[in-house]
Amino acid sequence: MTQRVIEITSPFFIPRQCLEDGASLNELFEKNQPLALEIGCGIGDFIIQRAEQQPEINFLAIDIYNKGCYKTCNRIEMAGLTNVRVMRIEARYLLTHFVAPDSLTAVYINCPDPWPKKRHRSRRLINRDFVQTLLYYLKPGGDFYFSTDFDDYGEAVADLMPTVEGYGNVLVTGFARNLPDYPLSKYMRRFLQKGQDIYFVHYRKKARVRPEALLRPAIDPGFRVRWSRAENE
Ligand SMILES: C[S@@+](CC[C@H](N)C(=O)[O-])C[C@H]1O[C@@H](n2cnc3c(N)ncnc32)[C@H](O)[C@@H]1O
Repeated sequence: MTQRVIEITSPFFIPRQCLEDGASLNELFEKNQPLALEIGCGIGDFIIQRAEQQPEINFLAIDIYNKGCYKTCNRIEMAGLTNVRVMRIEARYLLTHFVAPDSLTAVYINCPDPWPKKRHRSRRLINRDFVQTLLYYLKPGGDFYFSTDFDDYGEAVADLMPTVEGYGNVLVTGFARNLPDYPLSKYMRRFLQKGQDIYFVHYRKKARVRPEALLRPAIDPGFRVRWSRAENE
């Protein structure tokens, strides 16, 4: 069954064409402020709360799910927020085509699709290639936040991060069970209600990173990162 695409006419929704036509991400916002990115915003629970907490930051919330973008836009309007924009776009495509190096003050990824079957693990968004990609686009001192309810994914990311050059751990342990002031997303709430624990991982790009660790990511034009086989087997 094909997904019915709802037309989104909200002024907070940015059609991809806008960027294809040459607009820069900063021009999308009323104020020239630091830019944070949420990847996989779902229906916007997290970003609405975070944008209310941090009016001094501009937030770009992206998802490939049309209805989620539609609902997120409605909620931005209802909340009267002016510092959030929404795009229906794939994360790696956005990063590699439209985001300037060293430009993001934070990247949030909450409860990404866990791909629980072992044979599907290579489809997970977060792996070594991807966090190295993020490093290239984060500002020095920029934050990387990841959360999941899925044990195997939480442990894999907590184990991976200390091995990626250029990041420092903000937490005293590899992961935490909660982060102060960190808003709950729809999926987090759902899992907490079921009694499941959440993994929170929080790393920060170091002020100085060797240029060799900041090479432009090797990503195929289009959808997929070129996976490094050893990482995903
Ligand atoms: C399990 S939902 C979680 C939604 C929300 N973050 C939450 O915690 O409630 C994962 C979301 O990520 C989106 N997504 C998955 N892969 C993506 C990608 N590569 N780029 C952008 N969005 C993606 C999906 O469409 C889906 O809405």
